[in-house]
Amino acid sequence: MNYNIALLKGDGIGPEIVDSAVKVLEVVGKKFGHVFNFTPYLIGGSAIDATGEPLPKETVEGCLASDSVLLGAVGGPKWDTLPGNMRPEKALLGIRSAMGLFTNLRPAKLYPALKGDCPLREDIVANGFDIMIVRELTGGIYFGERGFREGKYGEEAYDTECYSRMEIERICKVAFETAMKRNKKLVSIDKANVLDSSRLWRNVVHKMAKSYPEVEVSDMLVDNAAMQLVRNPAQFDVIVTTNMFGDILSDEASQITGSIGMLPSASLGNNTRGLYEPIHGSAPDIAGWNVANPIATILSAAMMLLYSFNLTKESEAIVNAVNKVLEAGYRTADLAHGAPSLSTTEITDKIIENL
Ligand code: IPM
Ligand code: MN
Repeated sequence: MNYNIALLKGDGIGPEIVDSAVKVLEVVGKKFGHVFNFTPYLIGGSAIDATGEPLPKETVEGCLASDSVLLGAVGGPKWDTLPGNMRPEKALLGIRSAMGLFTNLRPAKLYPALKGDCPLREDIVANGFDIMIVRELTGGIYFGERGFREGKYGEEAYDTECYSRMEIERICKVAFETAMKRNKKLVSIDKANVLDSSRLWRNVVHKMAKSYPEVEVSDMLVDNAAMQLVRNPAQFDVIVTTNMFGDILSDEASQITGSIGMLPSASLGNNTRGLYEPIHGSAPDIAGWNVANPIATILSAAMMLLYSFNLTKESEAIVNAVNKVLEAGYRTADLAHGAPSLSTTEITDKIIENL
């Protein structure tokens, strides 16, 4: 088969890690008889520099015309002082929204080879953990009404958390179905002791639970969830939560896997076209040094093969190759703790050798 993939390399380490994933995909294509065509488009700070805007129209059109999208990272100090609607991050929100990607899947699992990198006590992670965070991605406070105004104490700014029943239902449907394919355990995370939007969220979850009698569902307040993630991560199978809570909890979950450089993500909507990106940022401090860990992006490409193209074997081949490389003890600098490490291109080549 032939697949057209839009590449949004973005800023900082984005180009290096996307190049790594492309190399891996090309080899997978050759091995399994597929052709992946790659078309790059501008996004983020590099798009601002070239065109004056973070998300040019051609980028949106190119992504919508593609079979799937692979993204590196956006942002950097150079663009930090721009107004909110001109920041690189706005492009990320814009493309997620333009593509209708309301689901964000963020798997966080502890690779046996990386147990020693987990900052949690050994007995806590003795049995590892394997969590799928289902984060709502196009609603909530990220997209709610906002602004600056004069208030009781003078100038003030506000952002609003708003969720419709429809938005909650569609993300929870994904979460319940994900749970059905895994260990049938779903924890819905909210702040229903304070927020009305969370009370509606909870109400929807409870109603939908009746249609999934096999799934064991529970509610958890987000502050408690932040604690439970480090107290006993193995208690979680599938988590479903709002845009902002999911953003925060997925960073926390990534850290207990050893390195944020390991976590991929898939953003999906109503069709098979998705956007795949590492959950980490653009790491401007190490950009251009060929030292970034490309694994999260390579695993994001593996998620693309699975979720967008239904290429199960091909996707597994990538995950297995990554596993083998880690088992063999190869590490990038983020995981090497000062010991000798492989560069971005070296670890990519190791993964390719193991395909
Ligand atoms: C992420 C990032 C983004 C988010 C930022 C860069 C807009 O933190 O993908 O987790 O908050 O969604
Ligand atoms: Mn984040």
